[in-house]
Amino acid sequence: MNNLSHAARLSPDMLNAIADEVGTPAYIYDVLAVEAGIRRWIDAVGDPARISFAAKANTNLAVLALLERSGVGIEVATPGELARARAAGFPEGRIVLGGVPKSESAVRAGIEAGVGMIVLQSGHEVEAAIRHASSYPHGPLPVGLRVRPGIRAGAHPSLETGRADAKFGFAPDRIPEVWERLASADRVRPRTLAFHLGSGLDAVDPYEQAVELMLSLVKSLAATGAPVAELDVGGGLGIDYAGDRDPEPAMLVEALAARLEGVPIELRFEPGRSVVARAGGLLTRVLYRRERNGRPALVCDAGYTDFARNALYGAEHAIVPVEGELTGEPIVEVLGPTCESGDVLGTNRRLHAVRPGDLLLLRDAGAYGFVMASNYNSRPRPPELLANRDGWKVVRPRESLEDLWRGEVIS
Ligand SMILES: Cc1ncc(COP(=O)(O)O)c(C=O)c1O
Repeated sequence: MNNLSHAARLSPDMLNAIADEVGTPAYIYDVLAVEAGIRRWIDAVGDPARISFAAKANTNLAVLALLERSGVGIEVATPGELARARAAGFPEGRIVLGGVPKSESAVRAGIEAGVGMIVLQSGHEVEAAIRHASSYPHGPLPVGLRVRPGIRAGAHPSLETGRADAKFGFAPDRIPEVWERLASADRVRPRTLAFHLGSGLDAVDPYEQAVELMLSLVKSLAATGAPVAELDVGGGLGIDYAGDRDPEPAMLVEALAARLEGVPIELRFEPGRSVVARAGGLLTRVLYRRERNGRPALVCDAGYTDFARNALYGAEHAIVPVEGELTGEPIVEVLGPTCESGDVLGTNRRLHAVRPGDLLLLRDAGAYGFVMASNYNSRPRPPELLANRDGWKVVRPRESLEDLWRGEVIS
């Protein structure tokens, strides 16, 4: 899709008013863009129940509640995300406790909450699920196994999660033995093979390769008495941060559905970034200009404690002045105010006309933005706002200074 109907539309008037009334930095999510982001997936997949939004991308309750209303499910990685999903209104049956490393108590929390499925990704989790399965309130516990397909895919090495040396999941040759173990256990029902290749993917062939491998496993598991009912292909579809050519969910869904033609297996998708990334922006004010390495730099009131993606992955997001134009050579750096040299928001920008006090909007910050914010340097985390054509509202206030030491004691 090139018209980006799922991108936030935040007017300069609104952004100025937000800066005046709420201050900066601030995250703003466009309601229509969130709805359009999930609608693309529902239109592609057909059935919202086959989609589990990956909560890790954005756990704001107001955003989750918008997604819940669309009828999709949710994939949660931790008891914390599980509690947020419930607080946002997701019924337990629409929650998948996903295939990231989990403690025994996390597996147990998912079982006791009655989630729709738990994806297990280590022997330790398998044994925990078997031990606690009798606490599942709805009959046999539906489980999946995460496979590590040994495929390199992802926008950055830290975002590649399906490699042979990744820390997630089982190597394919271990699956039959683990599946058998689950199939023969009391009150457990293995039903799903899952993988998650990585994040920021723009092509379908890695998914096709992984599905090919899953189908060979499906064949070898057919005789176990617990045939595979579902392939969970994880998330990972990226957005075009440098432009407007976002990979289409429909492209992925059609390619995989064609591969499964005639095979009685359902597909599950766990998109995060591609649903909400375009819907959010981070508003920041320029504190001052300086020179660094002979180049102009803008130091802003938002830093990597608010938005970590550049510091973590070198991710470059569009950063635009709320008023005014981009001018000159692309050499301006955009920096945060904390005490780390790596506190960078963007490099090589045409922001020569920007002056201290001006507002900048860092675009496409709706995924892996606020959720990765920290309190380093005792910086209160920024507020989160929902906006639509009629106005905006704060859905999570800026943290106060007292919030910074809540629960701490001086002994
Ligand atoms: C198991 C699993 N599913 C889904 C996702 C979502 O990925 P993305 O936001 O790239 O779509 C992740 C991201 O880490 C994940 O680990």
